[in-house]
Amino acid sequence: MFLELDGHGPHYAQLTRAMKAAILDGRMVAGSRLPPTRVLAHELELSRTTVLAAYEQLRAEGFIDARVGSGSYVATLQPGAALQPPTKVISAPSLYAARARQVQDRKIATQHRGLRYHMQYGEPTINPMLNSAWSRELARAAAYTPASGAGSQGLPALRQQVCDYLARRRGVQALPENVLIVSGTQQAFSLAARVLLNEGDSVVLEEPHYFGAYQALIAHGAHVCGVRTDADGLVCSELPVTAPSLICVTPSHQFPTGAVLSLPRRLELLRYADAQRCWILEDDYDGEFRYDAHPLAALRSLDQADRVIYVGTFSKVLFGTLRLAYMVLPVALRDDFIIAKYLNDFSCPGFEQAALAHYMGDGGFERHLRVVRRELRARHEELIRGLREHAGERVEIVDSPAGMHVVVWFRDYDEAQANALLELASSRGLGMYAMAPHYLNPPARQGLLLGYCGLSTGELRDAMKLFGACMDEIDARMLSGRALSAGARA
Ligand SMILES: Cc1ncc(COP(=O)(O)O)c(C=O)c1O
Repeated sequence: MFLELDGHGPHYAQLTRAMKAAILDGRMVAGSRLPPTRVLAHELELSRTTVLAAYEQLRAEGFIDARVGSGSYVATLQPGAALQPPTKVISAPSLYAARARQVQDRKIATQHRGLRYHMQYGEPTINPMLNSAWSRELARAAAYTPASGAGSQGLPALRQQVCDYLARRRGVQALPENVLIVSGTQQAFSLAARVLLNEGDSVVLEEPHYFGAYQALIAHGAHVCGVRTDADGLVCSELPVTAPSLICVTPSHQFPTGAVLSLPRRLELLRYADAQRCWILEDDYDGEFRYDAHPLAALRSLDQADRVIYVGTFSKVLFGTLRLAYMVLPVALRDDFIIAKYLNDFSCPGFEQAALAHYMGDGGFERHLRVVRRELRARHEELIRGLREHAGERVEIVDSPAGMHVVVWFRDYDEAQANALLELASSRGLGMYAMAPHYLNPPARQGLLLGYCGLSTGELRDAMKLFGACMDEIDARMLSGRALSAGARA
């Protein structure tokens, strides 16, 4: 008898699984006699005790019958119990699954992990002091937090801290009862889709946009419509005449271009939402990192009609894997969001919320922010200086005094040349990201998104030198290509 053991867990359990599979797929037919335990043990090089234990388990589960004095036999199972080999690949049946799979295929970027200079733009800057502070906070929370009852809306202490922080740093006046703690901005997008959208409802996304928002909305069945952005952020005069259900924006630091939504545009957007009775989701994903003297307050702070759903995240400031973010909800939507959160996952983890509430209340969070902000400002300056020195007039730098990345546009490169540069740089250990995948429609120019949060100032200096050298090489290739085609024409 051919029985293949899968190598996982104790031998008797492996043998039980293998025999069950053989019975279910018909290799061992009802009524047939099983080999004596001693024989099978010898054949499979197992101990007899192991085989006896497997037979006992199979007997207890009804797969075999033991007849006193004459051995064990495969039991007669219910008709249809035998598994037929699959005739075709079965895909998940829901529209949601099909759309989610489709959108996953629109790959956003190559990952450059393992390269010497990875200009990633998503993960927070490492502050070793944060790690030790955080392990203390977690230990403390584990000792003092009740093991149950974080509540779907989030720990009251954390909601209070979020309100205090928002009032101090983002100009947002919020009450704890209107705050919902969620597991990342990504969950905020999903909940917003569930609460606000029916199949086919339209949603405005900035063009270019954050792919995570696009994914969640498309999978939900939304009709996504891109509205252009320029140096002042979303071009509000181009919002659709027919009201969308939702508008998703990144006013403080447009993702990915870095534009700040100007005050006239902010007011125009709020007037539009009020008049059209639609909702705005303000994704303030890196609102903590502003390097100018007077940063603009959040859009929500101007919202008198209670139309803005404000979302802030701890992913960029603490740890991406913490999966904690917060929403400030319009009163009219609050209860529906809380129910949706409850149905989705009951609540966010209590210990982490308690640790964070204490860390914020103790002043540790803002001390950490000051350290990181100072470091990021220095890195930002180094990056801009390096770009000016090594890329010079060949790129246009979109410099905004905020965030964790900078965008540059090539003055001369077409798509093939930009891709050739990315490939060449990657082969030399410099990982950068193209702008094009962040667009619904291909952009008129080629650009790069350069994250500076993961490299020290020294590394940035070297990375920009390498960047300039790679551009020199691509330019030389272009020149020789032109010379060759001019020669061929002559
Ligand atoms: C525009 C934007 N919003 C939000 C997030 C953060 O999402 P989350 O809070 O789910 O980690 C990111 C992360 O890269 C982002 O780029």
